[in-house]
Amino acid sequence: TNNFSIQATAKAVPHTEIYNQDLTSLMATSDEWIQQRTGIKARHVATTETTTSLAVDVAQQLLQQSQLAATSIDLIIVATMSPDFLTPATAPQVQAAIGAANAIAFDINVACAGFVYGMQLVHQYLQPGQHALLIGSETLSHLVDWHDRRTAVLFGDGAGGMLIAADSDVPTGHWLGSHYATFGADGHYLTAGQQPRLNPWSTDTAVKPTNQWAFQMNGRRVYDFATTQVPRSIEQALTAAKLQANEVQSFILHQANARIVASVGKTLHLNTEQLPVNIAKYGNTAAASEPILFAELVAQHQIQRGDKLVFTGFGGGLSVGSAVIEY
Ligand code: ACO
Repeated sequence: TNNFSIQATAKAVPHTEIYNQDLTSLMATSDEWIQQRTGIKARHVATTETTTSLAVDVAQQLLQQSQLAATSIDLIIVATMSPDFLTPATAPQVQAAIGAANAIAFDINVACAGFVYGMQLVHQYLQPGQHALLIGSETLSHLVDWHDRRTAVLFGDGAGGMLIAADSDVPTGHWLGSHYATFGADGHYLTAGQQPRLNPWSTDTAVKPTNQWAFQMNGRRVYDFATTQVPRSIEQALTAAKLQANEVQSFILHQANARIVASVGKTLHLNTEQLPVNIAKYGNTAAASEPILFAELVAQHQIQRGDKLVFTGFGGGLSVGSAVIEY
């Protein structure tokens, strides 16, 4: 089915806000450098919240908005690269917390592209009459070395999501086209969360238990990847959808860096109204950034039913993906 009806959307962010100025006591950086190079002014950091609790918060809001019983949910996907546990995954914990006993639930990890990969999975999985919760939730603050100025200034915590239905009796909401690509050979340019090798027989002395836990990034390479592959992905997705860029009301791009968004806009000749940006308040929240932005735009009535929208995620893997929908 090409029916892809977003019936509700919500976001949840930790209550603690950390401003650029707050970071200057931890590392040699400045508010001016961070704002000029990234567009970030502040980020939310989980102090009491977890990846699971933020995802549950979003799921509860989605159910409340849509007035749907939890038992009507058939599928729960949480996109995250920062789960609280490797098992159980985040999505089964969301299922339990909201009482969605009929849903199957699992996590996916495609780093910052996770949400848009989840959109494709939901689109392919849902049968007419079924409902899915798709949530991106991250506490990247646990994967950051808070003394490494090259990475720490970039990331933030939060969650966002959608309740998606494949109902043919819902008048709006269509899947129009998509494009996805993986560049595994470049994966080493962006790493985080290497698992410790602690079994008694391990001979891999090069792998220290914690030395690659925090984000390691070749910022320039990731920047070049994004500014090259994101426009290509969008172009191919638009071709699949038989649309021109000027027929799209909003491009919901992963919020990694305001300069990346501006560069993509320039390459594709988009105007600034087509390219919403909210990175100033949240930093890069990986799989959560697109649904957080989308939830804000819907709440502010900046997106209307019938709008053509492009969602594009890119990042760790390296990975890129674009989905074109009619809202
Ligand atoms: N504060 C002050 N100075 C800094 C900081 C900082 N926080 N970080 C780096 N610098 C310094 C550098 O040491 C360097 O100094 P030098 O010239 O004396 O060596 C100078 O600033 C310039 O550094 P560059 O790395 O060249 O700066 P650049 O303009 O490339 O910006 C940035 C760096 C913002 C990281 C950029 O490369 C970028 O945005 N890359 C993409 C990152 C990204 O989006 N990653 C996430 C992908 S999504 C995911 O899956 C998680």
